[in-house]
Amino acid sequence: MALLQRAQRSTGTADDPAAPSSPGHEGADDGITVVAPGPLVSVDDLHVTFRRNGEDVRALRGVSLEISRGEILGIVGESGSGKSVLGLSMLGLLPTNPTPTLEGHVLVEGVDMIRAAAGDRRRVRRDHLGAVFQDPMTSLNPTMRVGRQISEVAGSSDEALRLLDAVGVPEPKRRLRAYPHELSGGLRQRVMIALAIAGEPSLVIADEPSTALDVTVQAQILELLRHLCDELSCSFVLVTHDLGVAAQISDRIAVLYGGRVAEVGVAADVLERPSHPYTIGLIQSIPSVERRGRLVPIPGSPPDLAALGKGCPFAPRCALAAAECLAGDVPLVAVGPDHWSRCLRVDHLAELRG
Ligand SMILES: Nc1ncnc2c1ncn2[C@@H]1O[C@H](COP(=O)(O)OP(=O)(O)OP(=O)(O)O)[C@@H](O)[C@H]1O
Ligand code: SF4
Ligand SMILES: [Mg+2]
Repeated sequence: MALLQRAQRSTGTADDPAAPSSPGHEGADDGITVVAPGPLVSVDDLHVTFRRNGEDVRALRGVSLEISRGEILGIVGESGSGKSVLGLSMLGLLPTNPTPTLEGHVLVEGVDMIRAAAGDRRRVRRDHLGAVFQDPMTSLNPTMRVGRQISEVAGSSDEALRLLDAVGVPEPKRRLRAYPHELSGGLRQRVMIALAIAGEPSLVIADEPSTALDVTVQAQILELLRHLCDELSCSFVLVTHDLGVAAQISDRIAVLYGGRVAEVGVAADVLERPSHPYTIGLIQSIPSVERRGRLVPIPGSPPDLAALGKGCPFAPRCALAAAECLAGDVPLVAVGPDHWSRCLRVDHLAELRG
């Protein structure tokens, strides 16, 4: 499939949805058990609920995921599916007004980013994490020259110059003295990427990093992020509403729907054997040469997270929906090695794949 570029670079298998492709315990020949380093990130049964206008908005409802070292995970879903809340949970930056109700754990380098003291979360962010958001102005200080902002994290102006050069800012020496508003959107995004990698993080979380940019610059920014993460051997979480974008660089893809993981697996498997009607809908709505412009939008709209009923939240939009889908909770089940789907009717998916 034309979508697949990096997807073939699989990262291993596991039998547990909470432990996809992560290194585990390896038995050595001499009988001594060698314990390989665990996953970098471990999200365990995460529930995040916001109280808004007297209603409970269930942004995340039992999300479990692991991210291995060096892995690129694409988190994909429509607006309101919980992607940013999941990314912010990993960064320990969930909003505080209103403060959401939390259940579960989000371990990053062993520190629970939703429960640890603010100082511990800050230390993990400083030592291990980098963040790139859609709007660079949310992270950049408008009153400070970009060189100084990067030097403060990188340690010296020489290092800031090297970073600006590494992220492809032309005339980096001159740009060190620029204020953010003096740069184009694409250059500001590159500066934010320089800031994100300045502390040599083990994980970069990028939330719609290229959405506000034009198509050519989008592709350059994604390629830059992929290249830098390869160079730094760091993990990378790409949050995007666009499955086509995630497909370009992800090792694994997690599809969120209504605050839950609808499907997760190695990117090549999710794209070539999508195993949830929602994922099939997302794929059929990506423009592609093979389909010669025949785009099929997913009918209906995303669920109201304050009014979720029993059963599968995708049922009102699903061509395969049957009575059993509304009877109760739909579990995440294995549909292949390191490939999981939250659909009761996977045996009927051929009707949709076309
Ligand atoms: N601070 C907040 N207060 C109240 N509700 C919130 C808050 N932040 C997020 N939510 C709600 O949580 C749900 C998930 O939001 P989230 O921002 O994670 O969606 P998303 O998948 O990132 O969507 P988008 O693609 O539009 O960015 C939404 O219903 C949203 O309204
Ligand atoms: S569980 Fe039923 S309604 Fe939900 S996605 Fe599968 S077939 Fe569709
Ligand atoms: Mg978002």
